[in-house]
Amino acid sequence: MARRSGLSRRRATIAVMLSMGALLIGGTGSAQQLVAPAPEITLAARAEKARSLAHIYSEKLRTGVIQALKEGGPVGAIGACNTLAPELNTTTTDESAFEVARTGLRVRNPDNAPDAWELAGLENFQKALTAGGDAKTMETYDVVTTKEGQKLFRYLRPIMMREPCMACHGPSVAQDVKAEIAKYYTDDKAIGFNLGELRGAFSLVQQLD
Ligand code: HEC
Repeated sequence: MARRSGLSRRRATIAVMLSMGALLIGGTGSAQQLVAPAPEITLAARAEKARSLAHIYSEKLRTGVIQALKEGGPVGAIGACNTLAPELNTTTTDESAFEVARTGLRVRNPDNAPDAWELAGLENFQKALTAGGDAKTMETYDVVTTKEGQKLFRYLRPIMMREPCMACHGPSVAQDVKAEIAKYYTDDKAIGFNLGELRGAFSLVQQLD
């Protein structure tokens, strides 16, 4: 019998292998050696694509913010930090697009609040950073199944506080900037971060089958 069940067993095995791969490698960057070649796109290949997208978004965010600050100062640039417009979120690696979002342990926009998987990742980043880890090497990814049975590839990578971020997320945000932020965000918790601290994370999701 059993072409069909044979097939689904194979698929199940792949899924288990993939999530074991994620457990084993959790961000060490040596995915290729540890994940056995699968007859579909490997977890390592997805992670590599997600990583390169996160780099692109990070650069877009930084340069976008710098440009907006130059043009409008912090008050005029309030909207510029939300640069991840939906049309930017459609870069594909294969059958389906990555969606890119941002999150953090403390957020300005409540829509960016972390879900359980993101929260666990952010807390791990924070712990690793406190222990002296290097943010550049940090990431986490996995294949997860939603309550509805949908399989997703998920990827999380830290966003760090840098100089151009200080005007709006730093420990001494100017009164007029605070007032402008408060017009749009009534429950802002994304303030008081120091240079080099964890500001949040890029969170990428791709639907699998
Ligand atoms: C001119 C003010 C301004 C500057 C400068 C700025 N941001 Fe923001 N940031 C905001 C606003 C406003 C939001 C809320 C955006 C939204 O509605 O999603 C935000 C949201 C975020 C979020 C999403 C989580 C949350 O708090 O809602 C991250 C992460 C973030 N900023 C990181 C940065 C980084 C990193 C920099 C520096 C490269 C930076 N920001 C510079 C104003 C700013």
